[in-house]
Amino acid sequence: MDHQIKHCIGLRFLPTSFIESVLNLAQQLKHGHATVNLNQQAVVHVFFEPSTRTRLSFEMATHRCQAFPMVLDIKTSSITKGESLLDMMRNIEALGAKAVIVRHANGGVPHFISQQLTIPVINAGDGYHEHPSQGLLDLFTMRDHLGDLSGKHVLVLGDIMHSRVAKSNIWGLLAMGAKVSVAGPPNLVPDTVRAWGVDICTRLNDCLPTVDAVNVLRIQFERQHGIAVPSIREYRDQFGLSLARQALLPDHAIVLHPGPINRGVELDSYVADGASNVILEQVSNGVFVRMALLSLLMENSK
Ligand code: CP
Repeated sequence: MDHQIKHCIGLRFLPTSFIESVLNLAQQLKHGHATVNLNQQAVVHVFFEPSTRTRLSFEMATHRCQAFPMVLDIKTSSITKGESLLDMMRNIEALGAKAVIVRHANGGVPHFISQQLTIPVINAGDGYHEHPSQGLLDLFTMRDHLGDLSGKHVLVLGDIMHSRVAKSNIWGLLAMGAKVSVAGPPNLVPDTVRAWGVDICTRLNDCLPTVDAVNVLRIQFERQHGIAVPSIREYRDQFGLSLARQALLPDHAIVLHPGPINRGVELDSYVADGASNVILEQVSNGVFVRMALLSLLMENSK
């Protein structure tokens, strides 16, 4: 079954066994118990939206897999001359690329491309649909600290509506058997999550003592049409993870954040720099997770 997985579009569409294969290979890579050699095959990275972590992490992962990263600068590409997205992608495949990594503001773009190309397509974040490699590295980091995620309680806190990270966390955590809760301003927490098996926590301070991990998200201002929260100060007071709120967490609980952090808004600087957060570990782990993902997908497409 797993060898049929050619693309990574979202964690919603991946079998649990494949997710576990990625995490297990990433674990071996991290501890030097495995290596990957993709023989200098070209992997094209196409980012239509800004990125620091995901872009550099995929580039690092491609290098460490002994593949050849080719980063297309959208601003100087022929998209600016009116070339269609599909023509661009077909040309990338015709040039001999063996995988393509895509970030796009519109949800569904990686899926659309994957239906047209024969090479693996990896979604590096599409609109507020999914950010699967971030979801995988979050699972990896939680598993590293908490062990088997089955039965663990994870809270995703913030702008659930506009966050692709929230969606990938939800699907990935549910696949691993975790209990998932979300919290945030009511207009940024869609009721539909209940149908997915997710609890909506309406009293944040009551929920915090029950969780094993909290993944804090920023407000996605760039995806909002109009301001969805009355003021930053109110948001911080009601939903920000302050030192006082962090003190409500169990001692073993970890704090995650996918980055970029808006310090003093969703996360207090003292929490961002404190001992219970694993934010930079997430970033380090992401390279191994993306190496594993690239390697498994490119192996499956041979
Ligand atoms: N976590 C994340 O996607 O960060 P970047 O936008 O910097 O890639």
